[in-house]
Amino acid sequence: MEFKHTSVLLHETIDNLKPKDGGLYVDATFGGGGHAKYLLSKINSGTLIGFDQDEYAIKAAELNFADLLRDDSSPRLKLVHDNFSHLESNLVKLGYSDGIDGIYYDLGVSSPQFDQADRGFSYRYDARLDMRMDQSQSLDAYELVNTLDQKDLANILYKFGDEKYSRQIARKIVEKRKVKPIETTFELVDIIKEAIPAFARRTGGHPAKKSFQALRVAVNHELEVLQESLEEAIKALRPGGRISVITFQSDEDKIVKKIFKKYSEVEVPRGMPIIPDDLKPTLRLVNRKPITASTTELEDNNRSHSAKLRVAEKI
Ligand SMILES: C[S@@+](CC[C@H](N)C(=O)[O-])C[C@H]1O[C@@H](n2cnc3c(N)ncnc32)[C@H](O)[C@@H]1O
Repeated sequence: MEFKHTSVLLHETIDNLKPKDGGLYVDATFGGGGHAKYLLSKINSGTLIGFDQDEYAIKAAELNFADLLRDDSSPRLKLVHDNFSHLESNLVKLGYSDGIDGIYYDLGVSSPQFDQADRGFSYRYDARLDMRMDQSQSLDAYELVNTLDQKDLANILYKFGDEKYSRQIARKIVEKRKVKPIETTFELVDIIKEAIPAFARRTGGHPAKKSFQALRVAVNHELEVLQESLEEAIKALRPGGRISVITFQSDEDKIVKKIFKKYSEVEVPRGMPIIPDDLKPTLRLVNRKPITASTTELEDNNRSHSAKLRVAEKI
């Protein structure tokens, strides 16, 4: 089963975890398993648990990684078809409740999700407005576009897509859907184009890029689940264990930065001679500034342009 996806910041993400033999690792966003394959090549023993909420990614992994999925006493790979926000409960279910040695996230969508027209993620293909990463979820882009009130729609476009014309686009959507529901990606693209002034359409990227990104983030609750999962991941890490997170949008990076800061800095009341354990930091930042793609990677992989990697270690 084909799964064509070029992994971003491959070596930087995995090498910074310092994988060790016998360790227990989590890939929160398995996708095509590019990072997973590299991590497993760095250790002679140990287990990797791969999460993905997308049924297609899991099915492809079951076929493409069949040799690593053997059900023996020390499996190299285990797959979990679930949202990474349920990290802790899945680890317990699998019998791993005494901590992990490393975890990494490669956020956002995979190339197949974009390229399979019927998933409705792309403004380049005509499809039903879907954008669900988890096909069993009921909320989709169709529902958001056709039921949210104008103000909430505008807020989503502005907050998650930085769309300058969010209010104009939301107004146009509400006007059009009074006539008939907006069913497809191309219908939405036409509405966005109509709502944006002509001079603005001629500059920057595709006029629907920001709105599509915003709807995708909203449909998949991307920012909320990231926040929940990072908290659980930090808790699950064993001392010395590391966490790597690749983000592709500034809102995601802000969440990672804020949570890493929360756990790596403590405010000790002035005059306190000994710092009690519950006031000691839990994390140490491995890099203060995010790691970005090298010139070679930037030339080879367009997706790497917006990638930022932050790494931290549990103390
Ligand atoms: C960028 S791709 C990962 C690519 C992978 N690192 C590789 O090298 O092939 C992101 C994957 O994470 C999955 N994903 C995104 N958010 C998720 C979440 N909250 N829970 C579980 N999987 C998620 C997507 O379905 C997608 O398959």
